[in-house]
Amino acid sequence: MKRILASQLPEHIGQKVSLRGWLNNLRSFGKLNFLILRDRTGLCQIVIKDSEQGKTLSHLQPGSVLKITGTVASAAQVQLGVEVIDPSIDIEVAIHEALPLEYYKPDIPSDLEHILDHRSVALRNRKIQAVFKIQAEIAHAYRLYMHDVVKAVEYFSPNMVGASSEGGAEFFNVDYFGYTATLAQSSQLYKQIMVGVNERVFALAPFFRAEPSHTPRHLSEGKQLEFEMGFFEHWHEILDIQENAIKFIVQYLHAHCSEQIALLDNQIIKAPAGVPFPRLTFEEAQELYFKRTGIDERHETDLSPAAERELCAYAQEEHGTDLVFVIDWKTVKRPFYAFPNEINPELTNTFDLLCAGTEITSGGQRRHTYDSMVEGILIKGMNPENFTDYLDIFKYGMPPHGGFGMGLERLTMTLLKLKNIREVSLFPSDPKRIAGNRIRAKVFFGGENIRNEIIHLLKDREMPFKHLVHEPTPTSEDSARVRGTKLEEGVKSLIVRGKNSKKNYQFNIPSHLKLDMKAVAECVGEKCEFEDPEVIRERYGLIIGGVPPCGQLLNMDTFFDESIKKLHTVAFNCGLPSESIVMQGKDLITIVQPKFGQLSK
Ligand code: 4AD
Ligand code: MG
Repeated sequence: MKRILASQLPEHIGQKVSLRGWLNNLRSFGKLNFLILRDRTGLCQIVIKDSEQGKTLSHLQPGSVLKITGTVASAAQVQLGVEVIDPSIDIEVAIHEALPLEYYKPDIPSDLEHILDHRSVALRNRKIQAVFKIQAEIAHAYRLYMHDVVKAVEYFSPNMVGASSEGGAEFFNVDYFGYTATLAQSSQLYKQIMVGVNERVFALAPFFRAEPSHTPRHLSEGKQLEFEMGFFEHWHEILDIQENAIKFIVQYLHAHCSEQIALLDNQIIKAPAGVPFPRLTFEEAQELYFKRTGIDERHETDLSPAAERELCAYAQEEHGTDLVFVIDWKTVKRPFYAFPNEINPELTNTFDLLCAGTEITSGGQRRHTYDSMVEGILIKGMNPENFTDYLDIFKYGMPPHGGFGMGLERLTMTLLKLKNIREVSLFPSDPKRIAGNRIRAKVFFGGENIRNEIIHLLKDREMPFKHLVHEPTPTSEDSARVRGTKLEEGVKSLIVRGKNSKKNYQFNIPSHLKLDMKAVAECVGEKCEFEDPEVIRERYGLIIGGVPPCGQLLNMDTFFDESIKKLHTVAFNCGLPSESIVMQGKDLITIVQPKFGQLSK
C-alpha cells in the first residue's frame, strides 16, 4: 500500500491507509493507548486498544521509526478531525535511548542553552520546525520577488576573501596556505562589481562577523539577503524596493505558511500593503526618541537599542506598521563606500530599516567614481592596494548605484517576534558556540597523545627538531647526557596548584635552576604549591619526568622564565620520560605562546 502523509488523512475517511513516521509520544489511559505519529507534515493520532500492542510500544522511546497500517475514522475531538483505528504496527527502527530533552511537547520545557546543546534533536519539535520552515519560505519569497518582480540576476560570491569589506575589527582570519585570508563580512564588493554587469543583482550570501558581544541579536555566522542596483533617478528607489520586498515576503508567508504561523500563536509583524514605512532622517529619529521618552541621545552618532525599539513603537502606534526607515546617517558611522550627502558632507545617503525594535537592514547609495572611492578608503584609514579588483570597476565605469543587505536571521526573528537570534539559526555560532556546539579548548591527555601533538605542531610549521628515544632519565644531568645537549639547555616543566583556586598552572625554567615560589605567587595572584604527582597522572595522563613545557595543550596558563628567551637550543621530555625533543628556543616560544616572568633562582 502506498504511503500517505498525516495531513492527507482527512481525505481518506473510512479507508485503510499506510503511514510512516516517528513515534512522537504515547499517551496511556489504562488499557487504551494513543500513539502520536510524526511525519514531515505534522502529527496524527493512532488509537491502540490491543494491550499486547500497547505493551510493546511502551518500551519504545520517541524517535522510533514506525510503519502503521489502519483505518481512518472521524474524530471530532482531535485537531485533524480524524484518527487511525485498528492499526497494525511495524517497528522499522526501535529506539530505547532516553531523550536529552522533551522535544515532543508543544513547547520544550528547557531553556535555550539546553535546547542548543541538543540542537539536532530539538529541531524535531513542531514549533521549532515551523520557525525554520518559515525561514526557508522567506528566502524563497525573496528570491521570487527579486527574480520575478525586480528582474535582478542572482550572483554567487566568494566567502574566503583577501580584505574586509565593512572595515572595523569584526572579521575572522583564516590560514590560507600560509597567507592570511579573511572570511567575508558581506558580499558588498562583489555585488557592486556585478552591477557593472547586470545592473540589478541579488544574493543569499553567508556572512561572518567576529562580534565579541553576546547579545540577543548578534551571530558570528549568518546569511544576508543582498541587493544592488544601478541607474536610479533617486537613491530612495532602493528604499522602495526594500519596502516592497518585505511586503511581498509577509504576504507570501500568509499565503503559504498559515499553518506554521498559527502554530506560533499568530505572532507575526504587521506590514499592511497600503501603509508606507515611515522614513525618518537620523536627526528626526533622535528628536522623536527624545520627545517620546525624555532620554537625550541627540549628541550620539548611533541609535541605541532602546531608541530602535521606541522608533518601532512609534511606527506601530502612529502608522500601524512594525517597520520604519532611518535615513541620512552620519559619515563616521558608515562604511567607506557610503555616498556622501550632496548638501551636508557630514551625512551619507544611507539607511537602516528597523523592524519590531531591531535593525534588520543597512543600505544606501555608494560612491561610484574612482577618485571618490579611493578617498572613502583613505578616510577610513585603509589601504587602496587591498582593493585593486574592486577599484578597477570604478576606473572602467560605474553608474550611480546602491543597494542593501538584510540579515535573514534578523528578519526571521523580528517577523516572528522572537526574542533571541539563536532561535532562528539552525546551528548558531557566537563567542560561546561554533555551529551550535559549545566551544571547548582542545585538550590532550596522555604522554603519547601529547608527544604526537607536539610533533604534529612542529611539522605543520616546518620547524626543525630532533625527536630522541632513550632510557628514562631521572635527573636533569642524565637527560643532558643522553640528549647530547648542555644542562642549561634543558627545560624543566613544573605543575603547581593555586592554594585558593585549586587551579593548575605550568612554570618552565632552565633545568639547572630552582623555581622561585614567590615569583610564582606574583605571576598568578595567589600562593601556589606543587601539584601531587598522582593528580597529575590522573588529570593529564602524565608522569612527572615526562611533562613537556607545552601547558597550553593541557589547557593550563603557562609561564616561561625570561632566561629561556636567550636559549638558541632547548631540550625537553615530550610527554614521556624516555623521549625528548631538541629544537630552537624561539620556535618553542612560538608554539606555546607563554607568559614570561623572572621565575628562577
Ligand atoms: O549593517 P551591515 O553590517 O551592513 C552590510 O553588511 C552592508 N554591506 C549592507 C549594505 O548593503 N550596505 O549588515 C547588514 C545586515 C544587518 O542589518 C543585520 O541584519 C545583518 O546584516 N547582520 C547581522 N545579523 C546578525 N548578527 C550579526 N553579527 C550581523 N551583522 C550584520
Ligand atoms: Mg548596519
